[in-house]
Amino acid sequence: MRHFAFLSLLIGVSASQHSLKLPVPTRQLEWKDVNFLSTSDIHGWLLGHQHATWPEPNYSGDYGSLASFATHMRRIAHDKGVDLLLVDAGDHHDGSGLVSSSSDAAGKAEDIFSMLPYDVITIGNHELYHYEDALEEYKNKGRWNGRYVTSNVNITIRSEDGSFQSVPLGEQYLKFDTEQGRKVTAFGIIFNFQAHAKGISVQKPSKLAKEPWFLEAIKDKPDYFVLAGHMPARGETAEFRPIFDAIREVHPKVPIYIFGGHTHVRDCVQYDDRSIGVVPGRYLETVAFTSSSLPQDNDDGPLDVARRYIDGNPVSYKWHTNTSDEDFDLPPIGRNISLALLRLASDLNISTPLGIAPHDYFLERHQYGHPRSVLTVFSDQVLPRTIIDKERNETRVIIGNAGSLRFDLFQGRFDRNDELTVSPFTSSFLYVELPAGLARNITEQMNKSGASKLLPSEPTTKLEEEDRVRRIYNEWMSEQWEDYLVQGGDDHLYDQVESQKIFQNDESDIPKKPRTMGFVTKDTCPGKGDDIKHYPVPHVGNQPDFVQTPFPDVNNDEIIDVVSMDFALDDFLAAVNILDPTIDLKEGHMKPYAEGLEINVVFGMYAKEMWQDGL
Ligand SMILES: *[C@@H]1O[C@H](CO)[C@@H](O)[C@H](O)[C@H]1NC(C)=O
Ligand SMILES: *[C@@H]1O[C@H](CO)[C@@H](O)[C@H](O)[C@H]1NC(C)=O
Ligand SMILES: *[C@@H]1O[C@H](CO)[C@@H](O)[C@H](O)[C@H]1NC(C)=O
Ligand SMILES: *[C@@H]1O[C@H](CO)[C@@H](O)[C@H](O)[C@H]1NC(C)=O
Ligand SMILES: *[C@@H]1O[C@H](CO)[C@@H](O)[C@H](O)[C@H]1NC(C)=O
Ligand SMILES: *[C@@H]1O[C@H](CO)[C@@H](O)[C@H](O)[C@H]1NC(C)=O
Ligand SMILES: *[C@@H]1O[C@H](CO)[C@@H](O)[C@H](O)[C@H]1NC(C)=O
Ligand SMILES: *[C@@H]1O[C@H](CO)[C@@H](O)[C@H](O)[C@H]1NC(C)=O
Ligand SMILES: [Zn+2]
Ligand SMILES: [Zn+2]
Repeated sequence: MRHFAFLSLLIGVSASQHSLKLPVPTRQLEWKDVNFLSTSDIHGWLLGHQHATWPEPNYSGDYGSLASFATHMRRIAHDKGVDLLLVDAGDHHDGSGLVSSSSDAAGKAEDIFSMLPYDVITIGNHELYHYEDALEEYKNKGRWNGRYVTSNVNITIRSEDGSFQSVPLGEQYLKFDTEQGRKVTAFGIIFNFQAHAKGISVQKPSKLAKEPWFLEAIKDKPDYFVLAGHMPARGETAEFRPIFDAIREVHPKVPIYIFGGHTHVRDCVQYDDRSIGVVPGRYLETVAFTSSSLPQDNDDGPLDVARRYIDGNPVSYKWHTNTSDEDFDLPPIGRNISLALLRLASDLNISTPLGIAPHDYFLERHQYGHPRSVLTVFSDQVLPRTIIDKERNETRVIIGNAGSLRFDLFQGRFDRNDELTVSPFTSSFLYVELPAGLARNITEQMNKSGASKLLPSEPTTKLEEEDRVRRIYNEWMSEQWEDYLVQGGDDHLYDQVESQKIFQNDESDIPKKPRTMGFVTKDTCPGKGDDIKHYPVPHVGNQPDFVQTPFPDVNNDEIIDVVSMDFALDDFLAAVNILDPTIDLKEGHMKPYAEGLEINVVFGMYAKEMWQDGL
């Protein structure tokens, strides 16, 4: 039984990959004295992207193929006599079936993640929302062979004598020699993240930069510094600067290599000409290659640096390592990891098809209201059909929040893994009885205050932090699309029917000019960053923060059930009280609705009911 599911998954994945032609890189990597592969924000996407809708196939490499790639790259570095370090900037939890389908899934996925030895790895905010998750990382940090570094994150644990103690969650800093004998000092730093669980402490980077232990750790001069940070290299939440400046006070010329994350974008910044900071995007879509010359003894000139955003798929991996299909798969680690992943997916039962989605539904490619918008399907079909309370009649409106949806939903097989990539969150439903006339105005009121609420203060809840990342990522995607249109890019090509035709037929139908859909990165480093030239993914900005199910046909004075997600309860209560302050609605007035149902199961319920055709 288990073997059957296991096998069909294997076949499903490879069949879809073989029928598709991926673009081939054209520019060799610029190997230099020191080279890095960096990843971030993998969020459990270790199985890679498995759907056939573009640009998904471009990111079809699983973590096993990344491990093979890294192994070949290490061999090439060895042959060339140069350094190659692997760096990851955190956020392994939340986002796919492998990490979100059960409470112990993420820990098992981490065991597989750590089969590939990283040189420097740090923690993300998603490992810090729940104390148990952070504790699991702390207890098992040994799996990273002493390379899990969290310079400004402590966890409070009960020590042997029963007292409580705040200790660094991972290593406080790293000092090691590379294979080529270079001395490295490394830190792992997260931005001033406040929405963490109790029992965790996060120190602001600007305070870390003044800590006596930190100043002591940077005293000796290494050949170079490495900063792995769960934060971007510029803009909101970028807080590398105080650390960078503190190092520069002591070592004005020692190279500093910075690897960021958190905002899910691709980016590159140089704080000065003896450093480079690279952010590699999200979900195993990108592996960043960064390289730099090392200064000779008295050389004070600028470093020669480069960075490349490699699309995470085997075609790119093989091309850059000059390996054939057979050679590429030779290192046992790649096969071991791929098999371990399939076994875990099978144990977690996340690959059984629940239905066949009849179309692609996109999170940001269409305006809310469009029939192919995930948000429209969510509010008009999924919520009304699945969130039903047997004790209540169906005269009700449900208000859902857009932030609880994270990814596109693709045509074809739809399984638990897909369901959790669309919405990995555990948010339940609550209701209160209100007059229909008032209820009609709540979603709009929530929308009005919802987005702006984020501006004045630092996010202090998971919802707010999620919304911030979503906003920054969407601004980046939207900018790519708008630039493209301004430059005369062809809008009509991206019509849904057209794009299906373009990408499903054979190569002769692929238009000559814009070649393939994907990221179009504009960063501030010299030269071209994207390994393969793409045209951007269509993107519609200004999506609502909150949406509602079709309003029941009732008079304004009728009393109806108004249902909110607990995730957005604060916004809901505030909106009702703004509309009618005499109600003075409080959390205690809300009662469970459709008790036991959470947002992370509704798409599966819907698929089981509505998408059985073709199964
Ligand atoms: C973590 O604990 C160490 C002592 O064990 C202390 O030096 C450091 O300041 C603490 N850091 C944080 C972020 O609390
Ligand atoms: C790639 O490998 C082939 C044979 O394995 C070799 O002939 C060729 O020179 C290599 N090319 C590069 C660019 O390394
Ligand atoms: C791969 O798995 C085999 C069998 O479990 C094991 O003997 C071997 O050490 C593993 N190799 C690597 C590189 O993970
Ligand atoms: C696996 O999931 C499918 C779909 O939800 C379900 O029908 C099946 O009973 C599950 N199998 C096991 C062994 O839990
Ligand atoms: C639904 O229930 C409410 C009271 O709980 C009642 O006022 C209303 O008339 C009912 N509506 C329908 C259509 O049965
Ligand atoms: C709802 O909004 C409409 C249109 O803005 C307004 O006329 C009406 O008074 C509002 N009703 C309540 C109860 O807030
Ligand atoms: C993925 O591959 C397809 C097919 O060649 C191509 O059209 C598309 O641009 C590629 N996208 C990315 C992001 O690599
Ligand atoms: C807010 O929600 C309303 C009702 O769903 C919608 O019409 C409106 O476009 C939304 N506005 C914003 C700014 O999100
Ligand atoms: Zn992330
Ligand atoms: Zn993050």
